[in-house]
Order: sequence, then C-alpha cells, then structure tokens
Amino acid sequence: RRKVGVLVSGRGSNLQALLDACADPAYPAEIVLVISNIPEVYALERARTAGVPTQVIPHKGFASREAFDSEMDKALRAAGVEIVCLAGFMRLLSAGFVESWRGKMINIHPSLLPSFKGLHTHQRAIDAGVKLHGCTVHLVTPDLDDGPILVQSAVPVLAADTEGSLAARVLEQEHKAYPLALRLLAEGRVTLDGARALIRDA
Ligand code: GAR
Repeated sequence: RRKVGVLVSGRGSNLQALLDACADPAYPAEIVLVISNIPEVYALERARTAGVPTQVIPHKGFASREAFDSEMDKALRAAGVEIVCLAGFMRLLSAGFVESWRGKMINIHPSLLPSFKGLHTHQRAIDAGVKLHGCTVHLVTPDLDDGPILVQSAVPVLAADTEGSLAARVLEQEHKAYPLALRLLAEGRVTLDGARALIRDA
C-alpha cells in the first residue's frame, strides 16, 4: 500500500472519506500522517479516532512560506510519505514544495475546473447561472487550482439552490471522487501527456 500524507486546515470531511477508503485492506493506499496548519481543527480529531498520527505545524510560526513548506516536507519525508493529498488545505504552497512533489500531490477543488478557481465557488456558480457544477481532483502544479485532472463529478444546479444546498450536493460527490482519484494514482494508472492526465484502465 502506498503511504499517503494528508494536509488539512479544517472540518476534514474529505479526510474522512479517504480514511474510510483506507480502512479497506484491499485499497491501494494507507494514510500515515495528517498535518494541519491550524491547531484544534476537527480533521485532527478524525485522524486520531482512526489511529493515524497527526502533526500541527502552525504557519504563523514561520518567517516565510518556504520555511513553513520545508517543515511540512521534512515531516512528510520522515513518515515515508509517497503521495500527498490536499484536503481542504487552505494555504498556497511554494513552487519548490510543489515541484518536489510533482506528479505525487493531488488536490480536491469544489468546482468543475477550469471554471471557478479560488474561493466561494458555489455562490459564484449560482451567480453565473451555470446549470452544472461539481468537483475536481487534480494533480497539483505551481498555479492555484490548476494541473492535470484525474476525476470530475458533476451535479445539477437547481433553481432553488442556495450556496449551502449546492455545497452539500457537491460535497457528497467530493467524498466519492477523492478516494477514486487517490486509487488511480496509488495504482500507478496515471501518466502525464502535457497538461493532461491519461488514466489507464485497471
Ligand atoms: C471542500 O469542499 C474542498 O473541496 C474545499 O474545501 C472544503 C474542505 O472541506 N477546498 C478548497 O476550496 C480548496 N481551494 P473538508 O475539510 O470537510 O474536506
């Protein structure tokens, strides 16, 4: 099983989806470390409950983004991590860190990329009047919410939707898309073709 480190900043519902997937011994990955940049978030509780080691690395204690990232990098390497999953991790990463995990770091974003990069994706989708919205799991590149797409899942935007109702519909899909994308990467089924990820059948 490939060793996975998960970076979190909050609630951790996507972390939970990954923990649940990894609870199956037939799943090709196991989570060996969860790092939060914010102390006392619920994601840490979820990791502890699953018996997974946690580390809090508060970004505020570092003079630069690079210094913070290099501390995370040390912790991940010390734990033998092979794949990094960003799961609601709300910090920009330095180019050096991203480069050193190229092809081995994935992120989940709550929109159908390349639409609605950045924050407040659900309200922006409603305001734009799109009829389909969703989530994307992609390999991380130095550009924010960019990089080869592994999995997308779409949901309808309904006339009565609020930001909250739409977020909930997307989140349900996130919890399926993320374990699927990690499986693809962990099974070595992803190859890069320029900006695209090609996925081999199992
Ligand atoms: C998720 O909806 C995730 O897609 C989003 O934050 C939420 C975290 O929830 N990520 C981003 O917006 C990244 N730019 P969770 O902590 O319950 O997984």
